[in-house]
Amino acid sequence: MPLTQLIYSSKPFGFDDTILSQILLTARRNNANAHVTGCLICRADLYLQLLEGPAEAINRLYASIEEDDRHLEVTHRMERETDSRLFGQWAMRDDPAQSWLWTKAEVDAGALENADQAAFLAVFERVAQRIG
Ligand SMILES: Cc1cc2nc3c(=O)[nH]c(=O)nc-3n(C[C@H](O)[C@H](O)[C@H](O)COP(=O)(O)O)c2cc1C
Repeated sequence: MPLTQLIYSSKPFGFDDTILSQILLTARRNNANAHVTGCLICRADLYLQLLEGPAEAINRLYASIEEDDRHLEVTHRMERETDSRLFGQWAMRDDPAQSWLWTKAEVDAGALENADQAAFLAVFERVAQRIG
């Protein structure tokens, strides 16, 4: 069965440890039930999330995430069909933004709008490689 991989970006609204823990708790519970895996890169100015799983589950989840008032400017960045997961061991891996990621200044200057689908996928491939 082919899987859908989807990446979006958004701007946290009210970002702190408590909010992040709540998001991750819900994500890990729901995703495990729905055969969804993925990774959430978190920074005070940026969420970047990859979701992967059955197409129907991903579409339903993304629709619910789009409506979530804990973030703004939810923007679809990449979607593809694939046979293999990048984060198969993780109901939802959370990762602080790495030093090589776009800086806040670059994000403010529109770096995400200039990036293509391959660039977004490359970000998560790089994170996935660090798991070993
Ligand atoms: C940045 C961000 C990432 C999220 N990621 C997930 C996720 O991976 N899985 C999930 O079920 N909910 C995720 N949510 C929460 C959903 O928007 C929604 O609140 C949740 O799915 C509702 O689940 P519930 O009906 O069990 O409370 C995320 C929310 C935010 C703001």
